[in-house]
Amino acid sequence: MTSFWSWYIVILTSGTLLALVWLIFATRKGQRSGSTEETVGHIYDGIAEYDNPLPRWWFMLFVGTLIFAVGYLVLYPGMGNWKGILPGYDGGWTSAKQWEREMAKADEKYGPIFAKYAAMPITEVAQDELALKMGGRLFASHCSVCHGSDAKGAYGFPNLADNEWIWGGEPETIKTTIMKGRRASMPPWGDILGEEGVKNVTGYVRNLSGLKNPEGIDLDAGKQAYATTCVACHGPDATGNQMLGAPNLTDRVWLYGSSFNQVQQTVRHGRNGHMPAQEDFLGHDKVHLLAAYVYSLSNDTQEQ
Ligand code: HEC
Ligand code: HEC
Repeated sequence: MTSFWSWYIVILTSGTLLALVWLIFATRKGQRSGSTEETVGHIYDGIAEYDNPLPRWWFMLFVGTLIFAVGYLVLYPGMGNWKGILPGYDGGWTSAKQWEREMAKADEKYGPIFAKYAAMPITEVAQDELALKMGGRLFASHCSVCHGSDAKGAYGFPNLADNEWIWGGEPETIKTTIMKGRRASMPPWGDILGEEGVKNVTGYVRNLSGLKNPEGIDLDAGKQAYATTCVACHGPDATGNQMLGAPNLTDRVWLYGSSFNQVQQTVRHGRNGHMPAQEDFLGHDKVHLLAAYVYSLSNDTQEQ
């Protein structure tokens, strides 16, 4: 902040406080015992208003807020460039420093617990009740925005509670997905295949999972187009390729919808699903716990 604006704030704030102090003391009347006959002079419908002094508790409360304000402005950075002298915050309080302190405290408290689980294999962590509870909380705060609070996903965000995996459901693969993130790349085919071509191959892949297509689809042409343009990623039997994140097209699980129009959109314009990497954000130990939690959702790990 430039010193002009700093002084602007300091003068305005202290001026307001001083004005309030003046107001409360200048207008204060002596505490008189008993009621007084003086009125302020307004009379309405025969009702007059007494000019009594402020109640003592009200006055004290007002003075209290003024003292609080001064104390606050000394401790916290409220006066322009003044940084405040709150103890424990070298160089003055900031919300970021407070957050860092709270995080450091939490790490100190929970770090050893996370570290204990991080040293265990994921399948073992997935059997630990406390670990799953902690994993569930982490999931709720960091993953549910996209995957849903029940982890069942939504349009464009995969269901993590079923046993269909785009990138793979092995414990270590799940962990890699969460650590490093994933970027899916389904190229657009509209320009290459043309309108008819897109329709036919759309019909063909929908047919693979038993969906009914509208009239006028040439499935043979679709099959041929599949064999030349799609097979490289989705595989000869269309069950997908987890190395590329190319989904199985023969199951009934659709990330981007199963209607003719939705699948056609996918084929015409391509899709680029992005799972953000969590390594730098959550760190290894929390991701390990999350991997166990996600793994437990589709594998019956809890001993009954
Ligand atoms: C910004 C949204 C977003 C957030 C937040 C997010 N994800 Fe994802 N995640 C995705 C998308 C999109 C995909 C699918 C990528 C693709 O199209 O292949 C995905 C894929 C996955 C997969 C792979 C599923 C499969 O079938 O192979 C796992 C596992 C996963 N996420 C776990 C998590 C966990 C655990 C968290 C919390 C730390 C999380 N995700 C947070 C968007 C998100
Ligand atoms: C370069 C590899 C590649 C090629 C070639 C490719 N795909 Fe894909 N396809 C992908 C990937 C990766 C995804 C996942 C996209 C995502 O998760 O955002 C995908 C997704 C899809 C989906 C969405 C599935 C769902 O669950 O919603 C359909 C449908 C599809 N592809 C059909 C086709 C067809 C038809 C062709 C041939 C015309 C084709 N793909 C060619 C990589 C490819």
